[in-house]
Amino acid sequence: MNINPISALQGAIDIPSDKSISHRSVMFGSLALGKTTIYNFLMGDDCLSTIRCFRKLGITIEISGTTVTVEGKGLHGLKGSSDLLDCGNSGTTVRLLSGILAAQSFESTLTGDASIQKRPMKRVIEPLTQMGAHIKAVSDNFCPLSITPSELHGITYHSPVASAQVKSCVLLAGLYADSPTTLIEPSVSRDHTERMLAAFGATLTREGTAVTLMPCKELYAADITVPGDISSAAFFMVAGLITPHSDIIIKNVGINPTRRGILDVLIGMGGDITPFNERIICGEPVCDLRVKTSDLHGCVIGGDIIPTLIDEIPALAVAATFADGQTIIQDASELKVKESNRIAALHSELSKMGADITPTEDGLMISGVKTLNGAVLDSFDDHRIAMSLAIAACNATSSSTILKSDCVKISFPDFFDLLGSITH
Ligand code: S3P
Repeated sequence: MNINPISALQGAIDIPSDKSISHRSVMFGSLALGKTTIYNFLMGDDCLSTIRCFRKLGITIEISGTTVTVEGKGLHGLKGSSDLLDCGNSGTTVRLLSGILAAQSFESTLTGDASIQKRPMKRVIEPLTQMGAHIKAVSDNFCPLSITPSELHGITYHSPVASAQVKSCVLLAGLYADSPTTLIEPSVSRDHTERMLAAFGATLTREGTAVTLMPCKELYAADITVPGDISSAAFFMVAGLITPHSDIIIKNVGINPTRRGILDVLIGMGGDITPFNERIICGEPVCDLRVKTSDLHGCVIGGDIIPTLIDEIPALAVAATFADGQTIIQDASELKVKESNRIAALHSELSKMGADITPTEDGLMISGVKTLNGAVLDSFDDHRIAMSLAIAACNATSSSTILKSDCVKISFPDFFDLLGSITH
């Protein structure tokens, strides 16, 4: 994809639906008794991988536009598949599904693309094994994961990482356990699983960073309307702030407190962002955002806020290159094990454009330079790196090329068209 410098962003956009909520709606709908209708489902490749896997597990799932209907068969209604369950590029699919499959009475094997086969799975194998699961993995850590039947029991697990994928995996396995399951994480990660499981009839309690799930006899179907994804809005929030003469409205943005770190940080950096029209959609807070060109200043981002903006750090790194002074991103070593090593990718690609960016053990130090040059840039097949580089390229002094830009279809298939539609 070639990107030319732009002079302004003007207009209103609807952003794609939330990826995390879309995945969960199909998974929980499949495990519930009755028909779940999902409105505004994200038709991105990752969520389609989840649908593909549940179809292989015997669930009837129909797609009409962005509405998905799932004929749930109850907690014990999945059927074994002799085929490999291909999760594509989706870490959420592998990790959440491993918790569900660990409790089934049939064998299954989960795998995915080259990137998935490099992502750590020990973080889910470890707690599931403590619950009684039998899982074999390459070097005890990598896909393919072969899961054989076993009886599960509840545990109290102190997760070393604040990860909603680990938390959700353990809670989903806990649905089938013979006693309560408690997951304690270092900081609170996104809580869509807790909210949606409760809507499907599960009993959960929260105390600080601990969540406890009671064993469950059945889940019951519930209709879901998926709000817009703040992780996708992040690219337009940053683009609107750093592009001169910009004034845009981003509609239908999910602002769940466990996801809204990007909004608070950008406003703290001096960003002129006004949330309005706040409302609740299916138990999730949502608003529209007005974003105007702003003079940003650097800041320190670390600690408990990191899990609430972990996927938005690539976009934040671009904002930091256009800010006055230094931005330090710390406590974010999880960035190394995302769809690519995002610390390395942001360092190498933004450096090519002339950014002053230094990688650290657990993040990045960025001194604002305010001017970037066009360059030939690698997305490393990571959707969020591709979109972050695109908004940087829009504000460079000359044209850029983003290699392997097709990966935006993972979470935001219309990204380039939408960007073009408000570009002046
Ligand atoms: C997700 C959790 C996060 C996030 C990912 C989606 C989820 O991963 O980065 O894009 O839907 O649970 P971790 O749980 O590994 O932090």
